[in-house]
Amino acid sequence: MYNVREISPNIYWVGGNDRRINLFENLFPLENGVSYNSYLIMDEKTALIDTVDDSVTNQYWENIEHVLNGRELDYLIINHMEPDHCGNIEDVIRRFPNVKVVGNTKSFQLFHQFYTMDTKANEMLVCEGDELNLGAHNLKFVFAPMVHWPEVMMDYETTKGILFAADAFGTFGALNGNLFDDETDYDNVYLDEARRYYANIVGKFGAQVQAVFKKLAGAQVNMICSLHGPVFRKDIAKIMDLYDKWSRYVPEKKGVVLFYGSMYGNTENAVMALANKLGQRGIKDIRVYDVSKTHPSYIISDIWKYSHLVAAAPTYNMGLYYPMDNLLHEMIALGVKDRKVALIGNHSWASAALKTMVDRFSCMKNMTLICESIDIRSRLKEDQKELLNDLADAIAKSVLED
Ligand code: FEO
Repeated sequence: MYNVREISPNIYWVGGNDRRINLFENLFPLENGVSYNSYLIMDEKTALIDTVDDSVTNQYWENIEHVLNGRELDYLIINHMEPDHCGNIEDVIRRFPNVKVVGNTKSFQLFHQFYTMDTKANEMLVCEGDELNLGAHNLKFVFAPMVHWPEVMMDYETTKGILFAADAFGTFGALNGNLFDDETDYDNVYLDEARRYYANIVGKFGAQVQAVFKKLAGAQVNMICSLHGPVFRKDIAKIMDLYDKWSRYVPEKKGVVLFYGSMYGNTENAVMALANKLGQRGIKDIRVYDVSKTHPSYIISDIWKYSHLVAAAPTYNMGLYYPMDNLLHEMIALGVKDRKVALIGNHSWASAALKTMVDRFSCMKNMTLICESIDIRSRLKEDQKELLNDLADAIAKSVLED
């Protein structure tokens, strides 16, 4: 059975949802699946905007056949050449041999890296700012390189103000029958997953997101159609504002994320004692994570959200406890910056964790150590109580007063 939705007169969502997938990109846990969105414009000319992942191919073709209702497909626009969106391009060309495949130099370069089909006769190369008129609808191509792949482009539909935004503004989480942001409780159902998606998938490329904002400045955007998750037509300013903050690495909230590694509970004990003191000092937004237990993508997401970080871990093999080291490497790779930081190391006979954490944070930009770090010897003792109090005082002052 087809499963489509008209999102604007003669523009249809024709995508699919995958709730069987466990790991997005074989990396990121998906608790509620993911949607692969594709849009079909029915005008004097017909245009399909991106395809979908192989996992939803059957549903996809039922959708397209229903909407086309026997018409030919004139254009396939490739905004993004990552396989979760280009899995059906060859199929489109086989079914519609005369279709014009619209992309830029980099899109076709990637297409020929992934696939073997000879598409020279179908290719329609576009440049930044080119327009494609379909009849009543008109698409303008806005290149968005490295958001988050080099070939990415967006299409701005000029008559209705609809932005087909590739992965931008997308989220983990399948659609639940509510396609539009105003049909669902977006903040409760999707926002945390949208942040996790942004931080881990797009996060490294904040400057490139900002560059796209500059290109779109002045354009009236009435609807945002991402390749993942709900279509925005109500809270456009809100999601734009969040994207602006996230891409400038500005925390959404004052709060403290404490993430720790702990082999036998001793480092955990210090962190929980500190969290207790922070709570008593009036800090409301406190998040505590065991790096051995929680997938790094969730911790990274909260690191994007909050202003203050506490990292704590033991020495391991004369270095830093592996899961913490892994997380800090991911933070470096994603370009996390501009946070206030406190550190707690732990060691029994050779202090290496604290030094390594200091080194790792020094590889990130503008990570300010707000107080003297604590180096625990096996287990925090009464005689280090004042150090912990000083740490809690400094963090609370910074969160509540600065
Ligand atoms: Fe949804 Fe970058 O692929």
